[in-house]
Amino acid sequence: MRKKIVAGNWKMNKNLQEGIALATELTEVVKNPNCDVIICTPFIHLASVAGIVKGSAIELGAENCADKASGAYTGEVSAEMVKSTGAAYVILGHSERREYYHETPEILKEKVQLALANGLKVIFCIGESLEEREAGKQNEVVKAELEGSVFNLSAEDFGKIILAYEPIWAIGTGKTATSDQAEEIHAYIRSIVAEKYGQEVADNTSILYGGSCKASNAPELFGKPDIDGGLIGGASLQVADFKGIIDAWN
Ligand code: 13P
Repeated sequence: MRKKIVAGNWKMNKNLQEGIALATELTEVVKNPNCDVIICTPFIHLASVAGIVKGSAIELGAENCADKASGAYTGEVSAEMVKSTGAAYVILGHSERREYYHETPEILKEKVQLALANGLKVIFCIGESLEEREAGKQNEVVKAELEGSVFNLSAEDFGKIILAYEPIWAIGTGKTATSDQAEEIHAYIRSIVAEKYGQEVADNTSILYGGSCKASNAPELFGKPDIDGGLIGGASLQVADFKGIIDAWN
């Protein structure tokens, strides 16, 4: 059966020393969690944090990787480089990358393929804007995002994808989707994965919720049958907050 997961997305927060301190503290307090715990850090933290989390209950991921394998792409970081740090995961398709860095479905498709080819597991984000939700288009939007970047994969490769539903209107706004709103669309997402890959693959796909998830609302969200955990932004930056969300699985 699918895994329960709490993943942190540090975004562009914490300098190297602060990141090392946060990762160190997390390894000290997160022991025998009832879910997989992943922290996704800025690129420059990866190699240092990999050494810190090694042998602990915490796994490591990046927040992005390049859409090219290698070569003259100044400033880019390849999937192979991410993997070589010891990281096992990469977040792709985050709405902040789609919006601010103009990452299209085609670019994301390349990134997903390179990540998988280099042995990384992908946390693939999908989710609608406020305008799209108000127009009742959320199902259409998430379906198109899946079709545009990951539904080309073989069933075997799709098995290495974790999905994260993150309604854009709930990210960093303090406005969480209600657990019923989240469950409704998570169930829909699972149904279209089942249509594409069959029920067994769908049942094995972890679908995380992201968007103002906190220790106070995590138990209710995680209590829903199709919500398999969370992708956490702001609340992953403080040990007590992140630990509180992990403990929602207890
Ligand atoms: P917040 O938890 O800060 O709303 O961010 C969610 C997110 O974007 C995680 O990827």
